Amino acid sequence: MENEIKVFCSATIANISCGFDVLGLALDGIGDEMIVKKTIKKGITITKLTGQKLPMETHKNVAGVAGLALLSVSDYNGGFEIEIHKKIKAGSGIGSSAASSTGAVWAMNKLLGEPFTNMELVKFAMKGEELASGVPHADNVAPGIYGGFTLVRSYDPLDIIKINTPKELYATVIHPQIEVKTSDSRKILKTNISLSDGIKQWGNVGGLIAGLYTEDYDLISRSLKDHIVEPIRSILIPAFDAVKSESMQVGALGCGISGSGPSIFALSKGKENALKVAAAMKGVYNKIGITYDIYVSSINLEGVKIM
Ligand code: HSE
Repeated sequence: MENEIKVFCSATIANISCGFDVLGLALDGIGDEMIVKKTIKKGITITKLTGQKLPMETHKNVAGVAGLALLSVSDYNGGFEIEIHKKIKAGSGIGSSAASSTGAVWAMNKLLGEPFTNMELVKFAMKGEELASGVPHADNVAPGIYGGFTLVRSYDPLDIIKINTPKELYATVIHPQIEVKTSDSRKILKTNISLSDGIKQWGNVGGLIAGLYTEDYDLISRSLKDHIVEPIRSILIPAFDAVKSESMQVGALGCGISGSGPSIFALSKGKENALKVAAAMKGVYNKIGITYDIYVSSINLEGVKIM
């Protein structure tokens, strides 16, 4: 059995408009790289961290905490060294903490001969999310581990469903260069919703799932709507309404906040349309002088993978 592996752990889009805390998808075009190595020394040591300023102490690092959760129930007697090379910026809304947590537990499981199921790996990675945002939400780590689209059908007991990914679906993501902490953007949300908003929202969640399975792009488009979170959080994002309306005008199927923001995502049918959406998004930010990163990506069907 190998002693060391290098993995790609993808960025993810959580919520996907209508599915706050339950829906997510994995991206191909952007992700972190990690090198995980078995050691005789017990515990987890973060030996290198490039690309972002983040804590390297095991208990303060999401990869460290997720890894310790796995070790605490494993009969393995040694430990692991982890190198983290961040390409995803912290606080960007495309699952930076989730990538580190999923990469660590997936790679450790692989090196141990895969004693744990994907669902168990999600549970370990959720400990990293809890450290990062105060809430062990699974909508980034689930697609990070399973790949494709995922639904957290239930948190207690944890029940993750991998959903079909239509072949021609592409994502465009623009990240205005500000940092929004998930913990802050959760604080501004209301804790109660009206029955009428609930009715609209669960209609759309069901519609989106049905659209993904039947590869019905019109149904996907009609369902990519958020009546609950977007109206509140969008005020934190520069020119959100303009980016959304320009994206829709050039043919996006839908456009919304990626995770807790500030990144904005759109889904399109085909790469050509996704590139048109990217041009439209850039146009808005160039006009008002906002700097950004932008990605056009197919959906990553595998989740974490060996490089
Ligand atoms: N569902 C989480 C939130 C995702 O919106 O707060 C954070 O990436």
